[in-house]
Amino acid sequence: MIETIHYAESVSGTVGLPGDKSISHRYALLAAIAEGESTLEHFARSRDCRSTLGCLRALGVDVRESAGTVTIRGRGLRGLREPQGPLDAGNSGTTMRLLSGILAGHPFAASIAGDDSLNSRPMGRIIDPLRRMGASVTSREKGLPPLGIRGGRLAGIRYVLPVASAQVKSCVLLAGLYGSGPTAVEEAVPTRDHTEIALGEFGAVVRRRGPWIEVDPDPVLRGRRLCVPGDLSAAAFFLAAAALAPRAELRLPGVGLNGRRRELLDYLAEAGLDIEITEETAEAGEPRGDLLVRSSPRLAAGGLPPIRGDRAAALIDEIPVLSVLGSQTAGGVEIADAGELRVKESDRIAAVALNLRAMGVDVEETRDGLRVPGGRPLGGADIEPRGDHRIAMAFAVAGLSARGETRIHGAECADVSYPGFWDALRAVARP
Ligand code: S3P
Repeated sequence: MIETIHYAESVSGTVGLPGDKSISHRYALLAAIAEGESTLEHFARSRDCRSTLGCLRALGVDVRESAGTVTIRGRGLRGLREPQGPLDAGNSGTTMRLLSGILAGHPFAASIAGDDSLNSRPMGRIIDPLRRMGASVTSREKGLPPLGIRGGRLAGIRYVLPVASAQVKSCVLLAGLYGSGPTAVEEAVPTRDHTEIALGEFGAVVRRRGPWIEVDPDPVLRGRRLCVPGDLSAAAFFLAAAALAPRAELRLPGVGLNGRRRELLDYLAEAGLDIEITEETAEAGEPRGDLLVRSSPRLAAGGLPPIRGDRAAALIDEIPVLSVLGSQTAGGVEIADAGELRVKESDRIAAVALNLRAMGVDVEETRDGLRVPGGRPLGGADIEPRGDHRIAMAFAVAGLSARGETRIHGAECADVSYPGFWDALRAVARP
């Protein structure tokens, strides 16, 4: 499917965001191994979260869906059933990495595979700690999926994360529920902490001591009624679109404002984005609030602050759209320490460089980042997102500020995190 995007003078209205993808995965997985029923409101309808639900059904979990609410009857900590065939994680790294931690605690053999993109992403980072805990894990060469996992009683470990990855941290903490003693993970670079928060909400004991996060084994997890906040990473595309438009006033109600994710808002405010946060509340440990963003000429007149170090980890999913935004400021943006982008749904460093160049920006690609010059207007172009949802949506935003027509090829990949994205964009962007 090709989506055609034209220049928008105005970006205004209200955007109903999808439920947060990261939180939806975690609520579904924990609900499945809890006792009793969980009702998960505003659950993400994204293709990735449907992959998690599909895997859980294949593991014997009763999952029902109606109008944005997912009801899951938990099977207890060790109650998953041996699947009849390979589990399909689709495009979803979170499904494969987090579910593997839970499978490692179950005494049956399961295999888990993904699509071509996921089957080329590194899993050695979870295979190593799971083997250290005592699970048997097989893979293709170089730790590539499909994975074969045979689990059982595990040993608790103390594990220093070799990469800044919330998925790896979460995999180890979830496997830690099945340990013979506590399991601790050290993360030198802070990453999103939805797993730690959700574990506590379902009744597990999680302690944080400096960079160490420790979980006790054998908790009784209790089913919950929970409401998933709006996805801040999905909001990022609209924040950037509003920042770039000559006229903009955009409301984004009920957005998740988790401390480890809202770095995006601090970063954009520092850059000069005109943004207001109101109605801040928290539910089940996850803060949320309403955002109001207006066009931000001050931001365009400067440059974006460099993205490197801890900031690169905190903004990892937003870097494609921030690169687009940076190209439309006077000073551009420099991104470093973001080598992880090369092993996402696509090589996002290469995909951003390729497509920004197609739109007339002379981007320099480095090993672990990008140098995006500012001050060059975008020209409409044919965009190749390489099946990557965040690339497709980032370049839709680019298309709104480009002169001429932008054609996003394979645009249906946006469904991976944001079904309804194209309609939502059309509803707020006006020529
Ligand atoms: C996610 C963690 C990040 C992020 C991904 C979602 C999560 O991946 O890029 O979109 O839900 O834990 P890594 O853990 O690989 O950095």
